[in-house]
Amino acid sequence: MSYEIFARRYRPQTFEEMIGQRSVVQTLQNAIRTNRVTQAYLFSGMRGTGKTTAARILAKALNCANGPTPTPCNTCESCLEIREDRSIDVLEIDGASNRGIDDIRALREGLKYKPIRSRYKIIIIDEVHQVTGPAFNALLKTLEEPPENTVFIFATTEFNKVPPTIVSRCQHFEFKKISQKEIINHLMDISKSNGITISPSALALIAHAAEGSLRDAQSLLDQAVAFSGEVINDDDLKEILGTINPELLYACSSAILEEKAGSIFALVDGLIEGGHELRVFYKDLVEHFRNLLLAASLEKPQDLLFMNAEEMGRLVEESKKASPEEFLRYLLALQQGEAGLRYSSHPRIYLESLLVKLCHFRKLVPLADLVRELEDARKGPGPSGPGAAGGQAPPGTAPERQVKPSSPSALTQPGFQAPPKAYNETPAASRPRSDSIPSKTQSKAVPAGPSPEAKAAFARILEGLQKEKAALAAVLAQYSSFKIGEEALEVVFAGDKKFYLDTIKRDARLIERVASEVTGRKLVLRLLEREDEAAPRGDSPEKEAVLKDPAVQYFMNTFKAQVLSVDPVKKPQDREVAGRDRKRSER
Ligand SMILES: Nc1ncnc2c1ncn2[C@@H]1O[C@H](COP(=O)(O)OP(=O)(O)O)[C@@H](O)[C@H]1O
Ligand SMILES: [Mg+2]
Ligand SMILES: [Zn+2]
Repeated sequence: MSYEIFARRYRPQTFEEMIGQRSVVQTLQNAIRTNRVTQAYLFSGMRGTGKTTAARILAKALNCANGPTPTPCNTCESCLEIREDRSIDVLEIDGASNRGIDDIRALREGLKYKPIRSRYKIIIIDEVHQVTGPAFNALLKTLEEPPENTVFIFATTEFNKVPPTIVSRCQHFEFKKISQKEIINHLMDISKSNGITISPSALALIAHAAEGSLRDAQSLLDQAVAFSGEVINDDDLKEILGTINPELLYACSSAILEEKAGSIFALVDGLIEGGHELRVFYKDLVEHFRNLLLAASLEKPQDLLFMNAEEMGRLVEESKKASPEEFLRYLLALQQGEAGLRYSSHPRIYLESLLVKLCHFRKLVPLADLVRELEDARKGPGPSGPGAAGGQAPPGTAPERQVKPSSPSALTQPGFQAPPKAYNETPAASRPRSDSIPSKTQSKAVPAGPSPEAKAAFARILEGLQKEKAALAAVLAQYSSFKIGEEALEVVFAGDKKFYLDTIKRDARLIERVASEVTGRKLVLRLLEREDEAAPRGDSPEKEAVLKDPAVQYFMNTFKAQVLSVDPVKKPQDREVAGRDRKRSER
């Protein structure tokens, strides 16, 4: 079977033949129909989504002997010339190789002359973001006073690198990724008309690997035919695609869902031994969790997932191990980790710790709720804004917090200067119903340094609470100091921490019960507040800050951990290495 590659053979020749990109196609066709074609277009979007194809169809539409027409004939001389890439009035320039000022000058020179044989001169500049600075300026001048009967079509895979001065002069169209479904249908058509035998699940593998690029999908099918001939079996395809064995993905999801952190290390070891690229594995793992989420959420996941019945059965079985909400949390956390893995200089360690974290996720999740609760308590009553719960931060990671609470909304009347005492005023909505606990106590310092026995007892109280209500334990662990007396457990919250008091008061009974169980005598809870925040542990300010963080507290309690040292983490964009890595990983 000798042939022209599929991408060329199946390049659409009319707008109607284009797959996806409905809104782009419709807008362009309408513009032609109503004679409102502008002088400069910018097509952006990932490779292989139809930018060049659309540019050429537009060129034909404008210059067709029967046109301008939204449906070029493809038989007139002009259409044929453009189709065969030999029209002298349609210039296709590759921005990557003609990117200098001289090239653009030459182009401008050529534009002085009217189109030779056609209605329009059409300049298509591909990868326009690669044009150099001075050349861009020259290009801009051309755009400011565009020669009559000239239409520019710029295409780019990196819209953000096109200078705004150019963007603002163009009509911009964003080309979307082609959906998996559309890719599969297209590949199915190609296979049928070329006598290729290939299973739907193999086509789904190709579509998945193509990541929304129809051209990539076509090229992969080319490769598969070159490798296997007209009968392509799934194993050949897996070899070509280097796909991760589903067994590994299931081993990983089971470890996470069954909270078997211990098996993660062997699993990652196996991946490395097997010569797998960890990032490829990770990508597939994200996809796997997305499939699990779908399976857990949908009644008929088979409508959206392309797998055979056996694979689907297995997926559905696995998806019963957690709720849709949980899968969503896992998925968000995985997505959040993707960039980190890409930039990490120790991908193995990064991957291991991330997966282990996911294994403990169920225990860690209430933390996010907790922090949100605290945030809400601090902000006062009223609905938390949209996105307060979702947002970027995945559960298990403490959202960034301000150290100083901004004034609670109850106190934010203009010109209101909160006196120190008033800070303890509770917004009505969050005021505890039960008043058995003194809601306001006089500021009073409690002698620091409880005995080792008292410390142990307090730790056991926290531990006991942990089992009953983990979020509460984490809040109580924010104490500034405490004292266990004969009849009372006194806990002091100082400075910024006073806002925790409201949350704790609500569960005073529970704390009293646990404290009484631990100590074997009836204790009442006395909550005290202090204005100043004395440094109780004598650590460095960084360590102090870290020890106060509820996330850290939570880890310390859960894993009986200690903070040994504190190293500031840089944001990825601050890292020089990030930029370099990014370049390298681009294809
Ligand atoms: N939206 C699409 N509809 C139909 N075929 C497409 C589409 N996008 C890409 N293709 C296929 O991929 C090939 C390359 O597409 P092209 O327009 O050059 O992509 P781009 O310029 O966006 O990188 C085409 O020849 C065609 O076979
Ligand atoms: Mg192109
Ligand atoms: Zn024509």
